[in-house]
Amino acid sequence: MIKIIEIPKIKDPEGRGNLSVVEKDIVPFDIKRVYYLYDVPSDAYRGGHAHKALYQFLIPLSGSFDVILKDGTNINSVTLNKPNKGLLIVPGIWRELENFSSGAVCLVLASEVYDEADYIRDYNAFKLFKSR
Ligand code: TYD
Repeated sequence: MIKIIEIPKIKDPEGRGNLSVVEKDIVPFDIKRVYYLYDVPSDAYRGGHAHKALYQFLIPLSGSFDVILKDGTNINSVTLNKPNKGLLIVPGIWRELENFSSGAVCLVLASEVYDEADYIRDYNAFKLFKSR
């Protein structure tokens, strides 16, 4: 369930920092939307839903946060805290994001434009979706 993809990092030879680049071959989908979460209070919780068809790639651009993933049977969690390591979330996975550090920024690359009809926001409905 935890699919971490390493993003190529170009370290500046003169010590001017790092540059990471996501080109289309890094993720197994065409990127149609980019959004980001920021100013998330440390006690706040994001996500709490699954998607029927959407692929997403989460990159912790700054700071850290935890992602809990549920496939209807198993639960896994991962801390994202490296800007060159992203998390691929495939369709049909329930996700919860929590424990955001101060200043954390979560960049999300998505395979489709926003469509509320693609969300499953009720956990029982998610279980039903997975048992079909
Ligand atoms: P939601 O996906 O539930 O946020 P999260 O999973 O981070 O908790 O979206 C929160 C609100 O923002 C919801 O009302 C839908 C809206 N929204 C858009 O209008 N466009 C988008 O691309 C996204 C991701 C959300």
